[in-house]
Amino acid sequence: MLGGAGHHLVLKTNDVGEDADDNERSAWRWTGADAVSAPRQTIMLTAVQPAPAAQTQVSSAAAQAIGLSGVEIAFRLANGGRFEAVAPTDLVVREGEFVAVVGPTGCGKSTLLNAAAGLLKPSAGSVRIFGEELSGLNDKAGYLFQQDSLMPWKTVLDNVSIPLTIAGTPRRGAEERAREWLARVGLSAFGDRYPHMLSGGQRKRVGLAQVLIRNPRILLMDEPFGPLDAQTRVIMGGLLLDLWSAQRKAVMFVTHDLEEAIALSDRVVIMSAGPRARIIGDYVIPIARPREIADVRLDPLFHDIHREIWNALKEEVVKGYRQTNGLPA
Ligand SMILES: Nc1ncnc2c1ncn2[C@@H]1O[C@H](COP(=O)(O)OP(=O)(O)O)[C@@H](O)[C@H]1O
Ligand SMILES: [Mg+2]
Repeated sequence: MLGGAGHHLVLKTNDVGEDADDNERSAWRWTGADAVSAPRQTIMLTAVQPAPAAQTQVSSAAAQAIGLSGVEIAFRLANGGRFEAVAPTDLVVREGEFVAVVGPTGCGKSTLLNAAAGLLKPSAGSVRIFGEELSGLNDKAGYLFQQDSLMPWKTVLDNVSIPLTIAGTPRRGAEERAREWLARVGLSAFGDRYPHMLSGGQRKRVGLAQVLIRNPRILLMDEPFGPLDAQTRVIMGGLLLDLWSAQRKAVMFVTHDLEEAIALSDRVVIMSAGPRARIIGDYVIPIARPREIADVRLDPLFHDIHREIWNALKEEVVKGYRQTNGLPA
């Protein structure tokens, strides 16, 4: 079961009376290369309850990179109280799969990501990484957070090579790899600069190179493009997808931006407003890859998907806003 009581967005042909199981399978067929080019009038979007048989089929399709099972997270408060941020939650991210977690501000997205990162120990439940129980930091994962973690006193080249030198790679070899990564993120000419000499988007590119140079099998991203302007976000999303398609990693991508989530992901998981936030929807995104990130938002299919998910999300967003602003629920 993926994500508790979630339902799946599926594409269903108008002229075929399929049952729920077939619908589930068709969602996976539609992720094939011709999904976007399918004639618009022959498809419609329906939300169905997940069928147990289909769920099993989907789960076994690839190894589980991240497996959160019954993960519950509560914080002890200074006044001795207990704040239950995340209710028992199941979430699977398979090898090579790009999953976005979307929810209202303050609902528990970062908290859930931090549990997958091993930065936070759940109060109950288990976190499995490639099938192994996680205890301590998740060393299979690279992290990219909203705030970049570049060292201001080091050049761009040193910032990118440092994860390798720390891991014992000789300096020359590490620098050579760092140069290759700077080329991949379009910053070949910037290796000698210091972080303060870069734009926000360029710093993010350095951050991506710094994380990917270690070749982690999992990428954990928490609103990574949050501080960027809208256009740069789209460009960074495109770069991220290009790099990800070359070396598919399991990605757990936290964002409050539903458009960004749909444009990038294989699945979008939505969370309710907290406290005791839970997963209330789990949607397969049947948009073909490779995606031209700047154009995908213009596709009618994109709008249908957006409308469907937003309908489920908007009530929670309003609830979350009222809570974080001290208004009655
Ligand atoms: N260390 C902590 N102690 C107490 N409450 C916390 C702590 N960290 C987060 N929270 C609370 O948990 C909830 C979820 O936080 P967070 O995961 O950061 O939300 P999101 O990333 O979805 O915006 C919020 O209500 C937040 O105030
Ligand atoms: Mg957050």
